[in-house]
Amino acid sequence: MSTAILQPANTTLPILMPPNPILRGRTRKVDPSNIEQVRALLPAMFATMYAAPGIGLAAPQIGVGLRFAIIDLMTDNAKAPVVLINPEIIRVSEDWAVREEGCLSLPNQYADVSRPARVAVRYQDPDDATHEIEAEGLLSACLQHEIDHLDGVLFVDHLSALKRNMLMRKLAKEIKAMAAG
Ligand code: NI
Repeated sequence: MSTAILQPANTTLPILMPPNPILRGRTRKVDPSNIEQVRALLPAMFATMYAAPGIGLAAPQIGVGLRFAIIDLMTDNAKAPVVLINPEIIRVSEDWAVREEGCLSLPNQYADVSRPARVAVRYQDPDDATHEIEAEGLLSACLQHEIDHLDGVLFVDHLSALKRNMLMRKLAKEIKAMAAG
């Protein structure tokens, strides 16, 4: 794990919400020309995710159009930060699983989402080492959710139009209420 992540950050970053178009845009691959920018963002990104609190945060959610995300399932309340750079799903299981999901960009909105039960994901870490992991359960859903963000996809896109519209209307109301203080 890169030492950059272990440095504490006191500042948290604003998390974008719909209808911000960056959430719906595609991301550019992380390459040698922008890896330093990615490394520099990690401490504040982890601070933001832990403060929220959340178990995943993708670059577009903080307004950065690059292909990386962070996750930490905080199993047994212990920190285990993971940085996913250029992650790709290389295999999915035939069977699907349903799990309740939320998203830091859609505060207070939750819904059951159906996804492949298991996935294999290949990604690079901040030190440019390549990893391949197989996941099931919460990690599988979290990986798919974060990789979706890198393609401009939100968890509500996996719901029926009826359910999605209901949830987005509720969110819009809450955002309005928050803005009004
Ligand atoms: Ni999300």
